[in-house]
Amino acid sequence: MHIWAVANQKGGVGKTTTVVSLAGLLADQGFDVLMLDLDPHGSLTSYFRYDPDTLEHSGYDLFLHNGQVDAELPARLLLNTSHDRINLIPASTAMATLERRAVGSDGMGLVVSKALAYLWDRFDYVLIDSPPVLGVLMVNALAACERLIVPVQTEFLAIKGLERMVRTLAMINKARTKKLNYYILPTFFDRRTQASLQSLRLLKRTYPNEIAQAVIPVDTKFRNASTQGVVPSAIDPSTHGVRAYGMLMRSLLAAEKREQEQSGK
Ligand SMILES: Nc1ncnc2c1ncn2[C@@H]1O[C@H](COP(=O)(O)OP(=O)(O)O)[C@@H](O)[C@H]1O
Ligand SMILES: [Mg+2]
Repeated sequence: MHIWAVANQKGGVGKTTTVVSLAGLLADQGFDVLMLDLDPHGSLTSYFRYDPDTLEHSGYDLFLHNGQVDAELPARLLLNTSHDRINLIPASTAMATLERRAVGSDGMGLVVSKALAYLWDRFDYVLIDSPPVLGVLMVNALAACERLIVPVQTEFLAIKGLERMVRTLAMINKARTKKLNYYILPTFFDRRTQASLQSLRLLKRTYPNEIAQAVIPVDTKFRNASTQGVVPSAIDPSTHGVRAYGMLMRSLLAAEKREQEQSGK
């Protein structure tokens, strides 16, 4: 099982769209995929027609036992989606009470890691959607994942905001035994605008090692997919947006393969 997370301390940058798009593309490759919604807003949960305001059980349940996770619990939280190879552990509004809570020394930072360990045989990939707030939920996502995708809008102010996320990651990396690989993913790219072109250039110059190979263009088909509650590749696998996410997926899979080969030597 491989765990990828998507995070940025800013809303509306394409986090949830990235999770849904990659989940669809990985599932299309024949992988069994779990999406974990850790954002109390529950956009990912709503996307698949579940209501974060009324769900009785959600990822919130994992956090109710002071950092301990019952072995049976994670499997009980799995919901079906419109794609038969994709399951969802939903978010509920109650998670907002955790969002801003700091991680103490009580093991609350490893809840997601422990929970996913119980699903090890069941899924090939887990994609975590995290909230825009650095609290217990985001820390759990960052601690559990092997790879992190940081979507950032190709506009000047969004890039300024990215500095905060990069500082957070430097801090997290000090606490991790294995370095967290992260990929800065330019989103909402519009090649007709100077703002987009200049922002992309600035991103490449500032983060030459972290910038993803793919650039996600503005594509209205993403909204059509969310209106229908299906992954974007199920509507049309050939749109610019889906193709760009395909490129991202392939580059992450290739990086994974390279690392496996290196550690096998
Ligand atoms: N590349 C894109 N092109 C056009 N619309 C997009 C794109 N990515 C996301 N969107 C739309 O923008 C809105 C915010 O995206 P979302 O993925 O929910 O951001 P976040 O999870 O970071 O808040 C959604 O309505 C989504 O459909
Ligand atoms: Mg979101």
